[in-house]
Amino acid sequence: MTIALEMAPIQGITDGIFRQTHAELFGGFDRALAPFLKATSPKQLRPAMLLELEPASSPALAFVPQLITTDPGDFAALATILAERGHQEVNWNLACPQPTATKKGRGAALLPQPERVAAFLDSVLPRMSIGLSVKMRLGLEDPCELDAVMEVLATRPIKRVILHPRTAAQLYSGTPDLDRFAAAATRCPHPLVYSGDIVDRASFEEVTGRFQNLRAVMIGRGVLTDPFLPRQLKTGQCPTASERIDGIFALHKKLFERYRDRLAGPAHLIHRMNGFWDYFQEAVQPHPKKLKQLRKAKRLEVYEGAVQSIFEDARARLG
Ligand SMILES: Cc1cc2nc3c(=O)[nH]c(=O)nc-3n(C[C@H](O)[C@H](O)[C@H](O)COP(=O)(O)O)c2cc1C
Repeated sequence: MTIALEMAPIQGITDGIFRQTHAELFGGFDRALAPFLKATSPKQLRPAMLLELEPASSPALAFVPQLITTDPGDFAALATILAERGHQEVNWNLACPQPTATKKGRGAALLPQPERVAAFLDSVLPRMSIGLSVKMRLGLEDPCELDAVMEVLATRPIKRVILHPRTAAQLYSGTPDLDRFAAAATRCPHPLVYSGDIVDRASFEEVTGRFQNLRAVMIGRGVLTDPFLPRQLKTGQCPTASERIDGIFALHKKLFERYRDRLAGPAHLIHRMNGFWDYFQEAVQPHPKKLKQLRKAKRLEVYEGAVQSIFEDARARLG
């Protein structure tokens, strides 16, 4: 079975602009799962959110939208809107570990409550005209929570299950628990997708070698530190160090131009671009002083000057 590569959802990063730009410049992904929609009910939908939900928001890379609501009526109504826009699948987030979600009972907060997961699905599934998939973690605090939730999922018509094998309490610390993923795989009758810490060929092969029935593997942070990764995994072609720097420069340039056209004012633009530097810095290795300058920039000229200088340094280091 060929394993598909999917862009993982990263809130604030992998929106339509990023998905489209990455697909145009690098390619390698078969599709993406979008970050969860911030609206939890149709009445909260704003025009910018609707724009993001359009398949045309990233025409070069098909995506599945994700919802995080716990209200079956809201989920079903949002799913209807997504179906009308041409989506074939909608994903339910049972994975988000952030207190902003869990304090409201959303995301990973549902994992210790399998009966609520069951009631939600039993209310929503009969109303769905498109497939429903689930993205989850091992548990909120206890990795054993997965067992009861998996039992609920196993007996319902779920399109696929995406599992990031950490608890929410772990956030991103430690390593993904592949043994627990293996145990889940034996109990999951639905197509299973792996998500977590795929950052290079070795980590990709460790997972795909061990779990040969995987339908897809997701890559999130790994593609932000190495945008060539999905293409490299597909073709075996490894970019040179200078192609790598040029690639990240081109990605930054295109993202900057597109967000400048989309966002209102320099503060929003600089804030958005700073989110990318959390990851780009690993590949570009800016001098700490220059990174600080970039981080503190309030005016676009200062930000652009710092970026120029950081990439000049990176190219100069290559000789
Ligand atoms: C900043 C950040 C935002 C994320 N946002 C989402 C999200 O909106 N929906 C979701 O299901 N997962 C989200 N995730 C989890 C990722 O999709 C992924 O499962 C996790 O980062 C592990 O995969 P990775 O090591 O390939 O990044 C987020 C992760 C990070 C670090």
